[in-house]
Amino acid sequence: MRFELPASVLVFMLSFGLCTRADPNAVYGVWASFVAMPAANNSFWDLLASGTAIVDAEPGTLQWLSLKDDAGPFVYLATFKTEAARAAHLAGRLPAALKAAAHQQLAQAPVFDSVTLLASKVADGNAPQLRFTGSGNVVAANATAAAHIKGVFTGSYYDAVLAQNYTNYWWMFQINATAFGLAAAWPTLEARQEHSDSAAVSAMIAAVEPYAALFEIPQGSAIGQKIEV
Ligand SMILES: *[C@@H]1O[C@H](CO)[C@@H](O)[C@H](O)[C@H]1NC(C)=O
Ligand SMILES: *[C@@H]1O[C@H](CO)[C@@H](O)[C@H](O)[C@H]1NC(C)=O
Ligand SMILES: *[C@@H]1O[C@H](CO)[C@@H](O)[C@H](O)[C@H]1NC(C)=O
Ligand SMILES: *[C@@H]1O[C@H](CO)[C@@H](O)[C@H](O)[C@H]1NC(C)=O
Repeated sequence: MRFELPASVLVFMLSFGLCTRADPNAVYGVWASFVAMPAANNSFWDLLASGTAIVDAEPGTLQWLSLKDDAGPFVYLATFKTEAARAAHLAGRLPAALKAAAHQQLAQAPVFDSVTLLASKVADGNAPQLRFTGSGNVVAANATAAAHIKGVFTGSYYDAVLAQNYTNYWWMFQINATAFGLAAAWPTLEARQEHSDSAAVSAMIAAVEPYAALFEIPQGSAIGQKIEV
């Protein structure tokens, strides 16, 4: 078990009757990214959107969120309880379809990184349609900096996100020894704005920025989703 819920969070969860939950079961993830050729934006968007039906039919795929960063690539995050479920997804129809389209639609080879989920917040299974996202990579300057950044994202910042009514979908994961990823989604623009404006985000940025070699969490739009808890 990778989560240690501080007393403050337990008190919060008890007093609010477990209205949302942190999901410690999904530990395995896939973080995929795709740089579309400019002319292929709309067709690649549609292709990724069609992935919802595919992952819906995958029993081992717990959560899947695909999105387009406003100024960056198409990405998706998929989460799994077991390594076998992740392997099944990676060998399945969606990666095959996306790889098959690469030659005509992508400017770079697609990337499918196997990642480790470090912390997440996923509201109940009746997920509303997620429309607005923030996602990206944080690369630490060195191993010491990586430990610090991991501490912030699984400690004070995670506690703050758990306490935010308006942020119900949030994942933090480790890509390699020094790189981390973050993905979050909201049903409304107002909710994302409330999060962006929160003291928790300012505090997180102040704590992380001095330790990061790369720190990019651009905003974007959700394309498709599967949310199970
Ligand atoms: C990309 O395609 C999507 C879906 O058709 C569209 O909503 C979006 O505006 C397009 N973006 C650009 C930069 O063309
Ligand atoms: C969370 O939402 C509930 C009901 O919508 C509200 O009563 C409560 O004040 C909110 N809590 C915070 C910390 O915003
Ligand atoms: C770690 O992942 C980051 C982000 O994907 C990448 O830029 C970096 O090259 C990777 N580092 C190693 C050592 O693989
Ligand atoms: C690691 O990176 C931090 C932040 O950039 C820096 O302050 C520190 O000196 C570095 N430590 C080592 C051992 O290089």
